[in-house]
Amino acid sequence: MTQTQEASSPPAARWAQATLRLSSRYAESVSEALMEAGALSVSIEDAQADSEDEQPLFGEPGMVPEQTSWSDNRVLALFNSQAEGESMLADLPPEWLKDALIDWEDVAEQDWVRLTQAQFDPIPITPRLWIVPSWHAPVNDAGVVNIRLDPGLAFGTGSHPTTQLCLRWLSQADLAGKAVLDYGCGSGILAIAAMKLGAQSATGVDIDPQAVESAASNAAENEVDITWGLPGHSAANGQFPVLVANILSNPLKVLAPGLCSHVAPGGWLVLSGVLERQAGEVAAVYAQWIQLSVWQSLDGWVCLAGQRNTDTAE
Ligand SMILES: C[S@@+](CC[C@H](N)C(=O)[O-])C[C@H]1O[C@@H](n2cnc3c(N)ncnc32)[C@H](O)[C@@H]1O
Repeated sequence: MTQTQEASSPPAARWAQATLRLSSRYAESVSEALMEAGALSVSIEDAQADSEDEQPLFGEPGMVPEQTSWSDNRVLALFNSQAEGESMLADLPPEWLKDALIDWEDVAEQDWVRLTQAQFDPIPITPRLWIVPSWHAPVNDAGVVNIRLDPGLAFGTGSHPTTQLCLRWLSQADLAGKAVLDYGCGSGILAIAAMKLGAQSATGVDIDPQAVESAASNAAENEVDITWGLPGHSAANGQFPVLVANILSNPLKVLAPGLCSHVAPGGWLVLSGVLERQAGEVAAVYAQWIQLSVWQSLDGWVCLAGQRNTDTAE
């Protein structure tokens, strides 16, 4: 998760970046205080990212209390100079930095827009399905489905394994003639993919109004007609032959009765945002309505899928 404040002063030719290794106790306070003090940008990362100890944390609205740091954090702060940064750090309460490991690095001025764009290359989800940012040409091979998507404020650029697992599931499913509900739509990527892969209709809901807005604009960019709204939107009230939800294991467990009630008899429920070690407990919660099993896993995350019995009414 990244909290960033854009520079208001003109960029210097060289900047100084401090990397502070901090526990969850002080990471957020340090980050906020540095932003207030005038750091050019501050972000917090999981210091264990890409390791077995990575902690799932999407910074979802509605998580109470809202968790914005990990147990082991890397706070990256950019300053006009190391002297300026050291002086801002010296103004913080000493106990915040008591156990911090601090590294300094010289950062050359760069074209940030191009640098950011360079980090987002087209992503092949399957040979048939590609996520392509707007600054790249679409993949023109026969039969390839391009989803045009730029990184934005909502989660779901196609780079996260949980999104990729859901996209892989959608691309192997027979969606023709089916209505799809994307629960926790974020950028709208799953509903958009479903439509481009042949679904008859799609609905996406999210508790974050900003996600709903960005999903609508991404759908327009992809020229697909999808109904978006907050949970409880009338379009999401019925039952769907396919329901896909990439959230996190705890909210998924809480949402279980509601999500299952939106799956039509014989329909598919597809869940992601679940770590391998959490798969059993999530499946156990859903077992009274739908038997879920691990469909595929990727980088420690799983996609759970299961079909609702055809004889269940609701
Ligand atoms: C991990 S993102 C997934 C976004 C996108 N569907 C994807 O696959 O990349 C999870 C999304 O679920 C939303 N969300 C979290 N809890 C929710 C809830 N109880 N009801 C609806 N949406 C929720 C969040 O706001 C966030 O946009």
